[in-house]
Amino acid sequence: MSNGEVSWWSEEDVRSTLPKREATGHKGTYGTGLLLAGSRDMPGAALLAGIGALRSGIGKLVIGTDKEVIGHAVSIIPEATYLSDGLKKIGDSSAGLDSYKAAAAGPGIEPDSTTEAAIKQLLSSDVPLILDAGALSERSYPERQAPVILTPHLGEFSRITGMEIKVVKEDRAGHALSLAEKLGVTIVLKGNESVIAFPDGEVYQNPTGSSALAKGGTGDTLTGMMLGMLCCHKEENWKHAVLNAVHLHGACGEKWTETRSAHTLLAHELSDLLPEVWKGYE
Ligand code: APR
Ligand code: MG
Repeated sequence: MSNGEVSWWSEEDVRSTLPKREATGHKGTYGTGLLLAGSRDMPGAALLAGIGALRSGIGKLVIGTDKEVIGHAVSIIPEATYLSDGLKKIGDSSAGLDSYKAAAAGPGIEPDSTTEAAIKQLLSSDVPLILDAGALSERSYPERQAPVILTPHLGEFSRITGMEIKVVKEDRAGHALSLAEKLGVTIVLKGNESVIAFPDGEVYQNPTGSSALAKGGTGDTLTGMMLGMLCCHKEENWKHAVLNAVHLHGACGEKWTETRSAHTLLAHELSDLLPEVWKGYE
């Protein structure tokens, strides 16, 4: 159990934990990430998360999505490879999953039985796993070596716990930590000054961000950035990857509002800002 202390994940913390890109590194050094995202009515989520991942240090990206989404996605993200109808394929078999360095599921998919079957297979693997949006449901988690990271906003936190939003708001850190300890997973409770609670009792709050982020799609971008960060950080530094993704995502929101109105950000533009923002931390 924790003593309930909440620390800020500061600029200095990010500077001292971001990995270097080794001169002799190759794409295998940074690992392959699997992203299960996007569906016929929500294809953009796969693009936002995919671009976020590719901008965030990943070696290679595989996007598992509907066949018809791939037709649109490939011209926008030619850097990725695609697993057509990936959600269904992963749900049918976990073969090959352990070749991924990390996986993320949820943006632009529905919380239905197909999603649940895929998540069951992902949880049976030993791959670090981010669950967001449609991959968030009320469920328990098996004991496993690799981390599971849930990234709910307040509404999703309420949906998976049955708690009222106004009750959660009164003590975000306390409720995030209770859920993290109960489920044995990491909880990133998103919003202004997101809270990050680890199952070992550590709790952090993120100091970066801006109201420009209050727009559909910015959460999908974060999921992708976190997937990329899990791939480029050393496996044992997965907590740094989670914290650094939230911090840098917020810093991109701040960068936007330095010279532009907070009303005007498009979610994919966070990924356009990341190269310069990240450089500022190196
Ligand atoms: N200040 C700082 N950060 C903020 C603020 C704010 N005022 N508002 C939002 N954010 C950040 C959050 O911390 C999070 O990182 O923006 C991101 C928003 O993520 P989500 O809430 O997951 O939003 P997103 O998924 O992109 O879009 C909303 O979620 O509930 C579903 O289907 C619904 O389409 C909708 C989608
Ligand atoms: Mg979201």
